[in-house]
Amino acid sequence: MDFLGWRFFPLLSVLASFLLFYMKTSSKPSNSECSFLPYDRFWITSNNIVTPHGVISGAVEVKGGNIVSVVKRENQQWKLKSANVVDYGDAVVMPGLVDVHAHLDEPGRAEWEGFSSGTKAAAAGGITTLIDMPLNSCPSTVSEETLKLKVRMLDSASGFWGGLVPDNAFNKSALEGLLKAGVLGLKSFMCPSGINDFPMTNASHIKEGLQVLAKFKRPLLVHAEIQLDSESDLEENDGVDDARSYSTYLKTRPPSWEEAAVRELLEVTKDTRTGGPSEGSHVHIVHLSDTRASLDMIKGAKSSGDSITVETCPHYLAFSSEQIQDGDTRFKCSPPIRDSANRERLWDALVDGHIDMLSSDHSPTEPELKLLDEGDFLRAWGGISSLQYVLPVTWSYGRKYGITLNQLASWWSEQPSKLAGQDLKGAIANGNHADIVVWEPDTEFDLDDNHTAYHKHPSISAYMGKRLSGKVLATFVRGNLVYKEGKHAPAACGVPILAK
Ligand SMILES: *[C@@H]1O[C@H](CO)[C@@H](O)[C@H](O)[C@H]1NC(C)=O
Ligand SMILES: *[C@@H]1O[C@H](CO)[C@@H](O)[C@H](O)[C@H]1NC(C)=O
Ligand SMILES: *[C@@H]1O[C@H](CO)[C@@H](O)[C@H](O)[C@H]1NC(C)=O
Ligand SMILES: [Zn+2]
Repeated sequence: MDFLGWRFFPLLSVLASFLLFYMKTSSKPSNSECSFLPYDRFWITSNNIVTPHGVISGAVEVKGGNIVSVVKRENQQWKLKSANVVDYGDAVVMPGLVDVHAHLDEPGRAEWEGFSSGTKAAAAGGITTLIDMPLNSCPSTVSEETLKLKVRMLDSASGFWGGLVPDNAFNKSALEGLLKAGVLGLKSFMCPSGINDFPMTNASHIKEGLQVLAKFKRPLLVHAEIQLDSESDLEENDGVDDARSYSTYLKTRPPSWEEAAVRELLEVTKDTRTGGPSEGSHVHIVHLSDTRASLDMIKGAKSSGDSITVETCPHYLAFSSEQIQDGDTRFKCSPPIRDSANRERLWDALVDGHIDMLSSDHSPTEPELKLLDEGDFLRAWGGISSLQYVLPVTWSYGRKYGITLNQLASWWSEQPSKLAGQDLKGAIANGNHADIVVWEPDTEFDLDDNHTAYHKHPSISAYMGKRLSGKVLATFVRGNLVYKEGKHAPAACGVPILAK
């Protein structure tokens, strides 16, 4: 069981990624199998349509998988006499979520999660584009060959990130080959991933990688934690007696790890400035947890003109270390969930726009590896299962901060689409892909055994037992109604998304 030794968790494990989506194709299953709606052209009406210009009452016209018009209700040009109208009343019609960070673990660890279960959960949760982090798959996707293994498994996929590793960082032709093959960008780690075929990168590797990315105008995603020796000793010194205590785990991964990584990374992101050697490339920091020095440094870099964005995840916004019971390893992830004061600052930073976007970092495993019986935080698998819940979680925990529907759409759709270079996604606007979620913000539900979850092992989710607000009624992907009131369309219809 060598993965018990993965002390550095799947969260670090992004390598290549896949955009999974349902989409009409001329071959493959017929439209009637891909969608609950038999129409090629139809109107979605609602009193709450979230557009880039605010929430309107009106209609979204869909044709051939694209949005061809968005009109206000008082505008009578659109013809409601058409039979092809789906009226959602007061339910919210919003751009589908684009999750740039999820681990689906296939091939090789399908018992942890899988493409079929994962994409079903995504659709049920209103996610219309999913980017999978393949490092928890086996093998990791470190080459064109291993990438093909993934692509072959999928009938509804894909686009992907490639891995920036020491092996290819100084080899321009290798990196260019990967980028020409269509990866949407690269991903690297500043601390050990614990996976042999995915070693960490230092600042020199990142600098080289950015120069190649610049030519392709694609981003580098970075796990920003650096293992500091003085801190790592702590893990050895602490006796097994303390391993059930969350505070023990917290001490093994202090904010100084994030801070040190961000400081080092920002030396290199200067290259992305206008006129810099890597102008055109972009750096994206994944799952920020530390809101002290790390966040301040990122703000400084932005104001200095670095091309840089940062994401955080719902579990850092929903939970705090004070609430985590000893032994409850469902909450273990890296970087760790910190105290409530930190959580408040994360919300502030998100609302103020200093944190650009959200991602799930859905990182499941088999329940046995969570060691829930022993509750050993040091040995348990790190990673939070959340894929299907991110929309209601963000909304439920964000309401008291006064978040708006437009903010949700920005954090979950618009900004992530931009990062992934998907210009036709992320907003309900003319000409965009008809990727849409319909949901009821005020409908509450309990995440208990009676709630149908489609991802594997819902019992290990940190959200189990919570009451959430915000029920997904329907999900459209490229105009196909793929999910409707607890049911999925019979077939997933997709074609690869490759960067050009
Ligand atoms: C660089 O990568 C190419 C393509 O993968 C490979 O053929 C070549 O041997 C590599 N060069 C070095 C110096 O490792
Ligand atoms: C990064 O590692 C490479 C070896 O892969 C080494 O040549 C280089 O000096 C290192 N750079 C830094 C900044 O440590
Ligand atoms: C699940 O539903 C059944 C039948 O409605 C009910 O008896 C049971 O208490 C529910 N379980 C939970 C955990 O709420
Ligand atoms: Zn991750």
